[in-house]
Amino acid sequence: MTLSPDIYRARRQRLMQQLGGDTVAVVRAGELCTRNNDCDYEFRPNSSFFYLTGFNEPSAVLFMLPDGASHLAVLPKDPEREQWDGFRHGMTGAMQDFAMDGAVELDELDDLALELLDGKQQVALLFDDALLRDQVLNWRDELAAKARQGAQAPVTLLDMTDAVHEMRLIKDSAEIELMERAAQISVQAHTQAMQSVAPGMMEYQLEAELNYVFMKQGARVPAYNNIVASGSNACVLHYIKNDEQIEDGDLILIDAGCELGCYASDITRTFPANGKFSEPQAQLYQLVLDAYHAGLKLMTVGQPYEAFHNAAVEVLTQGLVELGLLQGSVAELIESKAYRAFYMHNTGHWLGLDVHDCGRYKVDGASRPLQEGMVVTLEPGLYINPDDESVDPKWRGIGIRIEDDILIQAQGPYVLTHGLAKEIDEIEALMAANA
Ligand code: GLY
Ligand code: MN
Ligand code: MN
Repeated sequence: MTLSPDIYRARRQRLMQQLGGDTVAVVRAGELCTRNNDCDYEFRPNSSFFYLTGFNEPSAVLFMLPDGASHLAVLPKDPEREQWDGFRHGMTGAMQDFAMDGAVELDELDDLALELLDGKQQVALLFDDALLRDQVLNWRDELAAKARQGAQAPVTLLDMTDAVHEMRLIKDSAEIELMERAAQISVQAHTQAMQSVAPGMMEYQLEAELNYVFMKQGARVPAYNNIVASGSNACVLHYIKNDEQIEDGDLILIDAGCELGCYASDITRTFPANGKFSEPQAQLYQLVLDAYHAGLKLMTVGQPYEAFHNAAVEVLTQGLVELGLLQGSVAELIESKAYRAFYMHNTGHWLGLDVHDCGRYKVDGASRPLQEGMVVTLEPGLYINPDDESVDPKWRGIGIRIEDDILIQAQGPYVLTHGLAKEIDEIEALMAANA
């Protein structure tokens, strides 16, 4: 699933305008990864490459020129390989379907690079691509060695990471539409999980319900490994084994979101295996929910990014004191970060082509103001270690997180993951309806 080729072309042109000067920019799609022996993982392109091309074949290399023209080096058309591994767009497809101004087959990559880099002042790339850094330096060396034949090697390497990431941070309307579709598939998957659970099931059986809905709705892969954590497994933040039996009386924390057209969704819900929160579970759950609502109010244009996290921390710390899990003054417990014994992660992150998407969180040393078109997760939680003997046993082993995906808009926050039960009575009613 890709957007219109004109959107990708406009992005490439905008990037080149921003970089300015006599610059050639280069980005790689990445390579197929082996899983074992001759089995590969399904290919997933580098997110910035995909953002600039919509092209989803391994090994491709994109070149962008100062005048806005683009060239793509691609796997060749090859009837025999395509018989085994599937369709390739080839050079013609790259030009016709992806609005490229030129295309070559990959065995001509070096020739194309030398031709395009010759006489240019600067080469721009994403510096975290170590392979490409080496490749660009090799091309530079080859051009430098041909100086007597008139070749002119570029003299500057520019890291264009910030420029690309800042573009990706602000989502356009086509991206937002796709992200809302991804979010809504994940809403359906979480609803299905809440309606299917029963004590005695294995965590992976509940995970199967999520994957079923993702795939059935056209999102073939999760955006990250599904977390289906029952009981105290929920206190392990990145629990992905998902292989234990769900007990009566457990809370279940599911953190799962599908990827659609390479865009991520990211939802967490926590609900009781038997459909009814116990008193201590409900008290802690309501506290996390209060922190969610306090954070959401601050997800507005112009608020510093850190404001919603700080608001959530304040509500959580106050509540932990009221419930007897922390002792002392709220201000001091926040200052000393004592709350981190129970809340050890941030309250959100950018969301987009990557689940932990790109873009700076601070500008000139200060938390950056939220802007229209940013998509941010809101995910307060509380985790009471099952072995923590300093707390009343009734709290031990309870892990709770509530997470939605929020679009920042001028008229206020818009919950892309709308329609998924979150209040205690909503969750219990949804689960009772299916009992
Ligand atoms: N699912 C990863 C996260 O919530 O950040
Ligand atoms: Mn998240
Ligand atoms: Mn998550």
